[in-house]
Amino acid sequence: MTPSVPRRSGVAIDLHNRFALVTGGAGGLGRACAAALARAGAAVLIADLPGERLESTVAALAPMGEVTALPIDLSDMANCELLPTRAVHAVGAGHLDVLVNAVGVMRTQPMHTVTSEQWRKTMTINLDGVFTTIRSAAPIMPSGTGSIVTLSSVAGRSGRANAVDYAASKAALLSLTKSAALAYAPAVRVNAVCPGVVLTDMWSGIVADATGSSVRARGTRT
Ligand SMILES: NC(=O)c1ccc[n+]([C@@H]2O[C@H](COP(=O)([O-])OP(=O)(O)OC[C@H]3O[C@@H](n4cnc5c(N)ncnc54)[C@H](O)[C@@H]3O)[C@@H](O)[C@H]2O)c1
Repeated sequence: MTPSVPRRSGVAIDLHNRFALVTGGAGGLGRACAAALARAGAAVLIADLPGERLESTVAALAPMGEVTALPIDLSDMANCELLPTRAVHAVGAGHLDVLVNAVGVMRTQPMHTVTSEQWRKTMTINLDGVFTTIRSAAPIMPSGTGSIVTLSSVAGRSGRANAVDYAASKAALLSLTKSAALAYAPAVRVNAVCPGVVLTDMWSGIVADATGSSVRARGTRT
């Protein structure tokens, strides 16, 4: 067994010869997922907006394993549609084993000030794009071992007064995940996780907590 293979609860996670696609992988949580997958032996492709952050993330993770970048705007549904196939071709893999949907955007502002354009933009990136990516990815995953994990949020369960569009998109992702799990079972496992607040770049401005009080966030990098 490779020494770098992580162990959790006594179970070795060995993803050698597996290929994982992480959307939003240049962000805090996506980057942590990409790092964990690479340490477990998977070839990892990070799909995120073009720029220095994507390049520096891949450079930082490269020593952990085979990590490559695919610059892409996932607010464009045509890009989301093509992403899984493009990713497989980009790394020369036969198929896609793991998809992590970590892409996401959030603003905080009072509900009555959210414009229709802002609402639509959040839904496009957080929900429409994830739906489109899952729909394209599942058919090219190996039957019985493919796995899709989507980052929802505690906000999707509890609501959030100052991020109504974000919370609604995350709630919809939970329903999408249940439906996709039913639709693709038993070939592909589809799950979502609901993190609480983690001080990543998403919280780089003022963070308003659930009670409406504010704290200053600090960006974190994995
Ligand atoms: N940090 C938290 O407290 C927290 C809590 C619960 C859920 N989440 C969810 O986890 C996921 C990751 O969050 P994070 O904290 O790492 O945020 P982050 O802002 O650090 O990362 C999000 C990533 O998505 C990318 N992205 C945004 N729009 C894009 C687009 N149009 N095309 C391609 N990439 C795009 C960003 O460039 C960024 O790298 C998000 O879905 C978020 O909603 C985060």
